[in-house]
Amino acid sequence: MDHNKLKQYLEYLELSGIQDIFVDRTSKEKSPEPEIDAKKLISLLNQKYANCDKCPLAETRNKFCYGNGDPQADLMLIGEGPGADEDRTGKVFVGRAGQLLTRMLKAINLSREEVYISNIVKCRPPQNRNPKKEEIEACLPYLNEQIDIIQPKLLLLLGRVAAVTLLNIDTTLKSFRQQTHRYRDIKTYVTYHPSALLRNPNWKKFAWVDLKKLRDDYFALK
Ligand code: URA
Repeated sequence: MDHNKLKQYLEYLELSGIQDIFVDRTSKEKSPEPEIDAKKLISLLNQKYANCDKCPLAETRNKFCYGNGDPQADLMLIGEGPGADEDRTGKVFVGRAGQLLTRMLKAINLSREEVYISNIVKCRPPQNRNPKKEEIEACLPYLNEQIDIIQPKLLLLLGRVAAVTLLNIDTTLKSFRQQTHRYRDIKTYVTYHPSALLRNPNWKKFAWVDLKKLRDDYFALK
């Protein structure tokens, strides 16, 4: 078992309340890979991090918004950070932008329940300002850990903040959209953030082009 998987497994055991494990060093047989229940691990980690105080956003947030959806999904969507409705409920993408996101998924025959949705930062930046570099740095380990556990086959980054952060290129959204990318070896699409589409409905036709490509890739996995 690789180091990352072992770490994840030990964390899973600890969070599940198992304090001692016994290893039979006399056995020559290779033990089978342990099964990690992604749903349970994600739910335990959500509880573990709920009172996170790794950055100043902890002082102004109401609820830590870890992520929602299916922890065994093939497709993971990554937005920027919670807004007012998310901060109040602890759930990601439930406000106006979230409702549009639900409709965008529906247009490509997907429901929110069959994908996993999260954000670059898990707590609301005051007045919905962009997250600061130090806030993103403090929060990114949570997202990377989610990706390790969920192991999505496709990523969809919503907006420039998610794209610049994960792809390490400082360019326009238009240019991000022109190709697919790789984040940690996962095929990655970029499209407009639903909040941008609410402000500029004439961009929806471009988002539709992106969504159709994603849809074809997603259903080819099945
Ligand atoms: N915008 C985001 O980027 N994420 C949310 O969860 C809600 C709005």
